[in-house]
Amino acid sequence: MSVHPDVTPLEFLLGSWKGSGHGEYPTIESFDYFEEVSFVAPPGKPFVVYTQKTRHADDDRPLHTETGYLRPVGDGTVEMTLAQPTGVVEIHVGTVSAGRLELTTHQVGLTPTAKEVTSVRRELAVDGDTLTYDLAMAAVGRPITHHLHAVLHRI
Ligand code: HEM
Repeated sequence: MSVHPDVTPLEFLLGSWKGSGHGEYPTIESFDYFEEVSFVAPPGKPFVVYTQKTRHADDDRPLHTETGYLRPVGDGTVEMTLAQPTGVVEIHVGTVSAGRLELTTHQVGLTPTAKEVTSVRRELAVDGDTLTYDLAMAAVGRPITHHLHAVLHRI
């Protein structure tokens, strides 16, 4: 069975990616990190499985990890659900076109002890074998502010 036709708009993402990034936020010390990401289209299913893990560039300790699903719903619209072990769940609606995916928060769910995150914006672009993304968030009382920039390469 091959990739589901609904997944075609996201084909440019499929595979595994590895690289490094830089993180910042007004309330924390800036940091550098290594990242591994994969986008897998289960045969015959109309969605893509996304998994991600990161390590600190200074001492290799595990940092953020997240996993979710991307589901193209037609007309260049993509819906995404995403869970993090820190108690944050992101629900996005976004657009995909010509190697670019832009996701804007539809809803954020928080467990009782999660840090306050009220909105997240994710922008991702693939050019050949290079994937670049930026993430901004409104969190801990701050308006939407840049948190992450990374450049990954296809492996
Ligand atoms: C590549 C992915 C990410 C990495 C490597 C990362 C890393 C970090 C690091 C190192 C900190 C500093 C404090 C700490 O060690 O916990 C931090 C803080 C934080 N991050 Fe991230 N993060 C990532 C993604 C995210 C995402 C997707 C969200 C929310 C949707 C998020 C929300 C936060 C919040 C709310 C804080 C706390 C700010 C504060 O307490 O002042 N992070 N992150």
